[in-house]
Amino acid sequence: GFKKRKVKIICCGLDNSGKSTIINKLNPKKIDKPVDPTVGFSVEEFEKNQIQMTVFDMSGQGRYRYMWECFYQKLDGIIFVIDSTDDQRLCVARDELYAILRHKDVESTPILILANKQDLDNAISPADLTTALHLYALNAREWNLVATDALKGTGIEDGIRWLSDSVV
Ligand code: GTP
Repeated sequence: GFKKRKVKIICCGLDNSGKSTIINKLNPKKIDKPVDPTVGFSVEEFEKNQIQMTVFDMSGQGRYRYMWECFYQKLDGIIFVIDSTDDQRLCVARDELYAILRHKDVESTPILILANKQDLDNAISPADLTTALHLYALNAREWNLVATDALKGTGIEDGIRWLSDSVV
């Protein structure tokens, strides 16, 4: 198909899941440095796989999550980041994920779920996350779950390549 030159992507997930770290890894202009919690949202623009990407890095803190849906119009793709070590809040992450999936503005938007922090010993495996999040029940939507270590950058390129290919 015809690939869009400009795509609009939103990056969501609970606070501390690693969204800003992941987006900084993708943006060649950013140097490696620790990130602060995002307040509200920040916008990053960069080119990847010959595609001009505009990525909205949304704050994951509870008091800002209502803002996510303000960005659902004309979205090409969604990245949902999960802290794979945060088993205590996995059900909160699942609720937020399904709030997105149920929203009519993004009912057919491809979604890339990143099982982040896989470098840590207590990380839940990608297979177990897939089961816990009931992803196999998502019939009518393009989805993929990719394991990442955002500190090293492992998996991020693979995930973004899948999302770029899905955005046609
Ligand atoms: P908010 O802006 O509050 O929504 O958080 P965020 O999702 O943008 O998370 P952020 O990128 O700020 O990362 C939170 C913390 O997790 C930071 O201390 C990161 O260094 C750390 N972190 C992110 N990704 C990984 C990872 O893959 N492995 C490990 N070990 N730590 C990570």
